Formats: sequence, C-alpha cells, structure tokens
Amino acid sequence: MEALLREMESYAQENHVPIINEGARDAFCRIVCEERPHRVLELGTAIGYSALLMAGKGAEDIEIVSLELNEARAAKAREFIRRSSYKDRIQVLSGDAAELLGSLHGSFDFVFMDAAKGQYPRYFRQILPLLEKRAVILADNVLFRGYVLSKERPPRRFRTIAKRLREYIRVVQDTPGFTTEILQEGDGLAVSRRNGT
Ligand SMILES: C[S@@+](CC[C@H](N)C(=O)[O-])C[C@H]1O[C@@H](n2cnc3c(N)ncnc32)[C@H](O)[C@@H]1O
Repeated sequence: MEALLREMESYAQENHVPIINEGARDAFCRIVCEERPHRVLELGTAIGYSALLMAGKGAEDIEIVSLELNEARAAKAREFIRRSSYKDRIQVLSGDAAELLGSLHGSFDFVFMDAAKGQYPRYFRQILPLLEKRAVILADNVLFRGYVLSKERPPRRFRTIAKRLREYIRVVQDTPGFTTEILQEGDGLAVSRRNGT
C-alpha cells in the first residue's frame, strides 16, 4: 500500500493532478483515524489518493463512494484502486458531484469535500439528508490561499470562490447540531461535527 501511495504521489506530481496538500495530510489522516468512519462520501476523487488514505485509516468495514467530474482521472483512480486491497470497498462514480448527489441514497458518517470550491455551500445543502445523526464533514481548501479570512480583497479571478467559501463556513457554523473547527494546515480544513441531534 505504501509503495502504491508513493507511486500515486509521483504520478500526481508529473501529471499536475491536485491531491491533498502535503501540509494538510497529517491533519487529514489524524482526523480519519480518530473518526474511524464506516460509510464515506468523497466529492472530488482525482486519482483516488485520498480515498485510499481514508480506506487504510477508517473502520475495517469501510465503504467509500467517491465522485469525480473528470472521466480520465476517474478511470486512473479505478486503475490505482484495483491494484489495492480496497478494490471492493471504493466505488468511483464519474460525473458532476452536484448532479450525482441528487441520485445518491444511504447514509454516510464521514464526508470529504474536495471538488469544486465554489459549490461547497450547495454541496452542504445536498449532503445534509444523506448524513447520519453523528457524522463529520471535512472540507478542504476552505481558507483558499489565505483569501477567505483576509481583510484584503482577493484578485478578481478568486473573488467568487473566496465569497462562496466564506458562505460555506458561515452556513456550517450557523447550522444547528453542528460544531465547526477551522484548521490552518495546508490550505485550510473545516471540520464540522454533527453531534447526533
Ligand atoms: C483537489 S482534487 C481532489 C483530490 C483528491 N481528493 C485527493 O486528495 O487525492 C479536486 C477534484 O475535483 C474534481 N472536480 C471539480 N469539479 C467537480 C465537480 N463539479 N464534480 C465532481 N468533481 C469535480 C476535479 O476534477 C479534481 O479531480
């Protein structure tokens, strides 16, 4: 498994595929280890790197459903996953996450949100009915290069993303039953815990 992960890191670097930021990886693994999730929903598979990390650190009976827009990346993810011992535990669905979410059933105790940053508020509304009473949503890149909490105006091309990420943080913080912690590691991680009510 370690050799496969190293190979994926090299592949990602050579092919400019974004995978979980090295600075956020330890925090990500620590949270997954603490939560030991059984049913995981991932938005943004890329080549399956974070899915395999979660598979190795979650509960023994872990099942992961991961959504990816880019068909070539989804195919590469399936190829890597097939070579792992988690091939029957991770399902990669190709398509737009917002559309796929509308057709998903079942309940998840852990969500890793890592697809289109500008869609995080929408994803949150869509995943709420799919969550177990006790669940964790981990959202990556919520501080987006420091622009989200900075008083300075971001460059024009990043304004919408920064605005939507601010909205995401506000919405999860204001939603009853959730407590949210923002970690500075990497590009910022929001850990939102639903406490069972
Ligand atoms: C940061 S990468 C995911 C990295 C992966 N979670 C990891 O750490 O190994 C974000 C991925 O989201 C995908 N993506 C972007 N917009 C999407 C959408 N609307 N629906 C599904 N996936 C999307 C991109 O193609 C990209 O592969």
